Amino acid sequence: MSHKLEQLRDSALREIESAGDEQSLEAARVKYLGRSGTVSAWGEQMKTLGKDEKPTVGKLLNEVRNAVTAAIEERAQKFRAQKESAALSNIDISLPGTPHERGSLHPLTQMLDRSIDIFRRMGFALADGPDIEDEWHCFDALNTPPEHPARNEQDTFFLRDGRLLRTHTSTVQIRAMQAAPPPIRVIAPGAAYRRDELDATHSPQFHQIEGLYVDENVSVADLKGALEFFMRELFGPDTAVQFRPHFFPFTEPSLEVYVKSKALKGGEQWIEVAGSGVVHPAVFEQVNDARGDKAYDPEKWSGYAFGLGMDRLAMILFDIPDIRFFAQNDLRFLRQFA
Ligand code: PHE
Repeated sequence: MSHKLEQLRDSALREIESAGDEQSLEAARVKYLGRSGTVSAWGEQMKTLGKDEKPTVGKLLNEVRNAVTAAIEERAQKFRAQKESAALSNIDISLPGTPHERGSLHPLTQMLDRSIDIFRRMGFALADGPDIEDEWHCFDALNTPPEHPARNEQDTFFLRDGRLLRTHTSTVQIRAMQAAPPPIRVIAPGAAYRRDELDATHSPQFHQIEGLYVDENVSVADLKGALEFFMRELFGPDTAVQFRPHFFPFTEPSLEVYVKSKALKGGEQWIEVAGSGVVHPAVFEQVNDARGDKAYDPEKWSGYAFGLGMDRLAMILFDIPDIRFFAQNDLRFLRQFA
């Protein structure tokens, strides 16, 4: 019996060795190892053997199977290697490779990422709202009455159905407060739209980061501290920040924010970068009406809000002279920020 197995092994190995191509190798594999192949048939036959024969024959059969399997794999490997070197023989490895164009982030996106990073460290979460808004979120809820000039068609893009392109990201203050009770600390980056003539410093579409913090005992001091920290993180420790009194219907007091830094080009001059202020109680009342509760009780809660002009900040940080460059997609411009 052992003798027959050895014969089987030898003839299998011989056949495998002489297989001239992948097809005849596959034929040999099926013949010996296939489901009804010779080696498999021996496996079946094992069942009929007596107790004394089984261990030796079984062991030998295993060895035969392993030897045949290994021989087939070795031969297959050889065929694969041959194929590969045949394919490679046509390739000139001394030719230069195909260069890959690498993109980079738009300067406004870089600015946004840096800003979000700083606010995250200060504990602000991200919020957002739609660019196409209703008048209530853009004006009424922000204590801006119907006769206010911002509501004029001269300044705002209205859709035919009465909705509009938000003129500022302050709409997200309202949406965030509708969605969750205080305390709340969110930033909302996004685009805003006004019917401005396009020139070096004005664009009908621009970008803001809105900020809103509502808690107990929030004051102007908290607002100033937060924005000063932000500006110094962004523009460097030598940055001076100045707050000038202003008017917004939805904050009282209202402050415009100016920065000046020697680290920046034209660093001797104050540049306006944000509007801000302490949230007007009338805004809380509007939100309460919409929520149908008293969650934003102005007696208990107070807050600050700000709207940072992202295009302006990016222009200062990267020394960009014209806001129109952001939207022209001129590679000579964009490559400078790669
Ligand atoms: N929404 C104001 C603007 O676009 C900026 C602002 C935001 C002012 C939040 C106060 C508070 O000019």
